[in-house]
Amino acid sequence: MSEYSTVEHDVLVIGAGGAGLRASIEAAAQGVSVGLVCKSLLGKAHTVMAEGGVAAALGNVDGRDSWEVHFADTMRGGGYLNNWRMAELHAKEAPDRVRELEAWGALMDRTPDGRILQRNFGGHAYPRLAHVGDRTGLEMIRTLQDHGIHKGIDVHMEVTIVSLLTDGDRVVGAVGYDRERGRFRVFRAGAVVMATGGIGKAFLITSNSWEYTGDGHALAYHAGAELVDMEFVQFHPTGMVWPPSVQGILVTEGVRGEGGVLKNSEGRRFMFDDIPPLYKDQTADTPEEGWRYVTGDKEARRPPELLTRDHVARCILREVREGRGSPHGGVFLDIAWIDEKVSDGPAHIKRKLPGMYHQFKELAGIDITKEPMEVGPTTHYAMGGIRVDADTQMSSLPGLFAAGECAAGLHGANRLGGNSLSDLLVFGRRAGLHAAEFASSHGRGTVDAGQVETAVREALAPLERAGDANDGGPYYIMQSVQELMQAKAGIIREEDGLREALDGLRDIARKAAGVAVNGNRDFNPGWHTALDLKNILTVAEAVVRAARERKESRGAHSRTDYDGKDPDWGTVNLVLRKGEGGEMDLRREAVPEMRQELADIIQEQG
Ligand code: FUM
Repeated sequence: MSEYSTVEHDVLVIGAGGAGLRASIEAAAQGVSVGLVCKSLLGKAHTVMAEGGVAAALGNVDGRDSWEVHFADTMRGGGYLNNWRMAELHAKEAPDRVRELEAWGALMDRTPDGRILQRNFGGHAYPRLAHVGDRTGLEMIRTLQDHGIHKGIDVHMEVTIVSLLTDGDRVVGAVGYDRERGRFRVFRAGAVVMATGGIGKAFLITSNSWEYTGDGHALAYHAGAELVDMEFVQFHPTGMVWPPSVQGILVTEGVRGEGGVLKNSEGRRFMFDDIPPLYKDQTADTPEEGWRYVTGDKEARRPPELLTRDHVARCILREVREGRGSPHGGVFLDIAWIDEKVSDGPAHIKRKLPGMYHQFKELAGIDITKEPMEVGPTTHYAMGGIRVDADTQMSSLPGLFAAGECAAGLHGANRLGGNSLSDLLVFGRRAGLHAAEFASSHGRGTVDAGQVETAVREALAPLERAGDANDGGPYYIMQSVQELMQAKAGIIREEDGLREALDGLRDIARKAAGVAVNGNRDFNPGWHTALDLKNILTVAEAVVRAARERKESRGAHSRTDYDGKDPDWGTVNLVLRKGEGGEMDLRREAVPEMRQELADIIQEQG
């Protein structure tokens, strides 16, 4: 018999970024007991990497904005593969969630007349991103933490979950271990909310930190839940490229939202070279003025740097591949030029983008008020994830809910910047609410001791294996996955590369199955990494299988052998599920027909 302690909660929330915190707050507000598990310390979450703002049609800067325009922008940005009901709920509820956050103490930047200030971001028709300089995600986490801490939530810090527990189909808890001492903990619960964030660590260059190994995606999948849209991985156009130690760290889209322009080594604003046909007829005038963005009878002028992220990332890659890149393999992002346009240039930049100013000054020795930054694409966000019901956020398994990045549907083929923060507020609240209701009506489930034994045995196996942990050990295996995914399943894909990726992952999985680690359970990062391998390999395989199946280019999924959108694929989602024999089953499923009034909105908005 293994040794473990057991804790019980009505609702167990796994992941303590914005979505997990918002879900915990809502569940606790329903009067149920809540446990919140964080892989690292409370407050350390990828939410802080959504720096430039939270998208909500408040209409404070441009009164023409409305939930309808936000809905249409989100659907267009997502290549119309989005779960339209989620996109509707999101656009309608985001303004209330932002105002609520403000009432809880978030200090947003203001308009001259004292309302919440909003800035431009890619793919949004109007200035829509409420923000706190370039630290919006950080302010959100701070606010949610401050608010949540008074709700009686039990926080389990530095705990990694290794398996979900099921009773039949129903999810009834989880098994985890504390990262300090390696002691096992069983969580018995009435409902579980997965809020573990993304899969960025499946790639070599990423804005994600070490926690983001696709844990929630993989835990849910291995418990029998469905994943959807896994082929769509967002490469944010602007990450740092130099020095090597900071490669991938995010450079917020807020820089472009504040007027930053992208230039190649010839000094040309190359984004003007490729304005999609949708906008081309409306392209106006001089580069300085940008192109006209027309939705229905409404019109705004936008710079091409604020086209959607998938498009900007591909344009940057083109410049680099065709030899017009910057010295360290990126392109130039220049905000210093606005010095000539605003009276207090450097002070203005430091006020609007304080984080970026310090990041470049301290990490790269660059003063962004005087010099351009060097930037290039970085793996940032998974549009794909656990398939959920739009209204309740329950997955295909009863009792398992998901919210935030590990849940899928809202963003379709490509997410608009800032929609991640509003997503986690809107759907974190919904997940917490419905998980609490489920737990109240179903009670706590029954834990099967056999499942616990299996989870503990599998977790301890790498420590008990003989082998040389330094040669072909967990770090080496993790890096091989990242290198393979970066090279074969990154921004640009094609059949041969994807086949090689799948073969490569199969070989790596064989090595991972026999991985050995040195030492014991105390403070052992090698062991932690060995346990992350199952998750990273699961999500990597899901991305590659789905990417191989989708024979077109749409949103963030771009194939050289299937150029452009194929209308036949425009109504298809790819759904993955663990088969009876443990293999990954993939099926095509038609996107449900949209309600007529929503289809009319899309028609009207153009
Ligand atoms: O660029 C950014 O500030 C990131 C925002 C987001 O991912 O939503």
